[in-house]
Amino acid sequence: MCGIIGYTGYSDARGILLKGLKSLEYRGYDSAGISVYHPDFKECLTVKCEGRVERLEKKTSDVKGNTGIGHTRWATHGGVSDANSHPHKFGNVTVVHNGIIENYETIKNTLNVADKLKSQTDSEIAAALIDRCFNGEAEDAIISAVKKLSGTYALAIMFDSIPDTVFAVRNVSPIVCCQNENGVYIASDITAIGEYSEDYFVLPEFTVARITKDGFDIKDFSGNTVDVEMLRLDWDIKSNGKCGYPFYMEKEIMEQPRVIEKTILSRISDSMPDFSGDKVDDAIFERCKSISVIACGTAMHAGLIGKQLIESVCALPVSVHMASEYMYSNPIIDKDTLVICVSQSGETIDTLEALKYARQKGADTLSIVNVRGSSIARESDNVIYTDAGPEIAVASTKAYTTQVAVFYLITAKIAYLKQTLNYEGVSNFISELNKVPAAVENVLERRADIHRLSKSMLTAEHAFMIGRGIDYPALLEASLKLKEISYIHSEAFASGELKHGTIALITGGIPVIALVTQQYLVSKQISNIREVQSRGADVITFVRKSLKSDDMQNYFELPELDDEFMLIPAVVSLQLLAYYVSSDKGLDVDKPRNLAKVVTVE
Ligand code: M6R
Repeated sequence: MCGIIGYTGYSDARGILLKGLKSLEYRGYDSAGISVYHPDFKECLTVKCEGRVERLEKKTSDVKGNTGIGHTRWATHGGVSDANSHPHKFGNVTVVHNGIIENYETIKNTLNVADKLKSQTDSEIAAALIDRCFNGEAEDAIISAVKKLSGTYALAIMFDSIPDTVFAVRNVSPIVCCQNENGVYIASDITAIGEYSEDYFVLPEFTVARITKDGFDIKDFSGNTVDVEMLRLDWDIKSNGKCGYPFYMEKEIMEQPRVIEKTILSRISDSMPDFSGDKVDDAIFERCKSISVIACGTAMHAGLIGKQLIESVCALPVSVHMASEYMYSNPIIDKDTLVICVSQSGETIDTLEALKYARQKGADTLSIVNVRGSSIARESDNVIYTDAGPEIAVASTKAYTTQVAVFYLITAKIAYLKQTLNYEGVSNFISELNKVPAAVENVLERRADIHRLSKSMLTAEHAFMIGRGIDYPALLEASLKLKEISYIHSEAFASGELKHGTIALITGGIPVIALVTQQYLVSKQISNIREVQSRGADVITFVRKSLKSDDMQNYFELPELDDEFMLIPAVVSLQLLAYYVSSDKGLDVDKPRNLAKVVTVE
């Protein structure tokens, strides 16, 4: 969480920093600030405030200078306030920080600086420590200081005594860097600076970058120069705006047919799944005897779909783990286990730590990641990149459907390698998968119907979702969407479980979303719908066209696909439901309260 940016060059730093912070706001939006080196005063001048970057923009109109750092915050240590906003200055040193410094209390006491601190943050301690370690050599001071830190950090640092220079150092939390004829740029994420150059690099951990107008110099902690691996940005950052939509979430929902198709098509050759473009060897699927999927939130819900698909089509056992609990659950891992980590950002710390743990235990690892060069991608033995493009809205939509698309491909691959499907079976499976983008398009074309249905939920405080088979994990995702952007308390249940307790909560007028896509489960699901209807629930049914029955009064018809493939159009229709409820309630759909897009704290 938190976004950091830095720039030094020949242009006005303020404009570049503010623009970058606007793109980084999805990492946190409690408060924001910038520091710019003022050549006349020969010091870094800071403006920061509680609230969004727009507010900061108004307060910084007279800031001048060509070198600066900026920050957008998701509060961890210390509440949301002007004082706790970054940058933090101590003596000669100004810093912005992303991460958590776990031993900040100890350092505070050792340095004996409690009475000099202006904030309650862990980050100000980093400024104090670097200042205390400074003896004229910036790199030496930074290295001595960070060696005393425990926790995670990405720090951008300026010294009053070293004009026109930004320093950066990191452990776990990301920093990327690029350069053009106007200067050098650093940020937490390439989306903030990708418009300046297509070529960028990820700052290696435990190195210090000295960034000046004309370039960068990177040294490891022993003082050796480090060569960086240049990466090529394959996203069209220029199409990064909302393209006329009121919110990124709507734009990203609408992009799904195209990005699902892109994710699938580049990995099919001769009607068969083909990961050779990803350099993923078939052997990792051939030799595994079980799969563990590790992820958080929406990405974990994609993993639950993967489990259903792989177990039913390939008869291979799959367990799905919440990344934050993985290491503490005595997971069974050995060389026959394939660990698949799923992450849009590739920076979720819980997933990253679980991945490192699984590798240490000897598992083969494969990650399904959206952001190229991200920490999880670099930590994995194998990577399959989803082709979702930048996802800006905090609520994940196209990342999820492209992750699920990859699971279909993995299922087909394993089925063929383990011969649970023959060539014809796999090519039929792939041919049905190829119909998914058009089915999603069909849902999107009829989105006004979903909008109409959503109106009855605007005043709801609670909602329930019921489904069977693969519809149940699909509803876990739909329920998360509704909760996070509309603030309606929502719970998804396997319909058969209702009678074991939850049905006590069904009272007159409560909204219940029923999902009915599985041919073989339809009669049981209809019974469960009747059960809640007879207790007064207002049921909205999302039903596959051929399964529609007279019990369904308020419904949305889903296009026809084979059972296993229904869930992507189903989830897209439920993403739209959540979206319309949130936007009609007048909420900030893209930036729901208390959340951040990239969760880099445990
Ligand atoms: O970047 P990741 O996919 O690793 O993020 C995992 C979760 O934090 C994320 O999916 C979260 O649940 C979404 N905001 C839900 O919409």
